[in-house]
Amino acid sequence: IERTLSIIKPDATRRNLTGKINAKFEDAGLRIVAQKRIHLSPAQAGKFYEVHKERPFYGELVEFMASEPVVVQVLEGEGAIAKNREVMGATNPAQADEGTIRKEFALSVGENSVHGSDAPETAAQEIAFFFSGLELVG
Ligand code: GTP
Ligand code: MG
Repeated sequence: IERTLSIIKPDATRRNLTGKINAKFEDAGLRIVAQKRIHLSPAQAGKFYEVHKERPFYGELVEFMASEPVVVQVLEGEGAIAKNREVMGATNPAQADEGTIRKEFALSVGENSVHGSDAPETAAQEIAFFFSGLELVG
């Protein structure tokens, strides 16, 4: 059984969309095995998105992620990483499929409501970035 790290981003927490987004995860068979609301500092957001530090949107992304609280969570299920990315939809909401979180809720390619790990190695890293083993309740 696989686990992935999910973040409900500031544009979504600000609009009280946490429950609606969680319903999409649960309807897809993903179990929320850990969850907390936190307000990232710019330094923490910068470290989390370090892989993107050479991209032109890095500064904007870090500023956005630290602007307001986020909900970080661990989702568990069969093929959780791929399933979560399917439920999220394409990075750019204009290209996201009908019924996906980003199609329904995202405001723009930057303010796109959710993050999801993209591979087993990054999922393990990203889960450890936010959660201790004690906080993961399968
Ligand atoms: P994540 O699940 O958040 O990693 O999204 P992703 O894997 O679909 O996209 P990617 O890893 O390529 O980019 C990470 C994040 O950077 C995206 O989710 C966006 O929030 C942001 N981002 C990507 N492209 C752009 C862009 O062109 N402009 C801005 N402002 N932000 C972008
Ligand atoms: Mg990504």
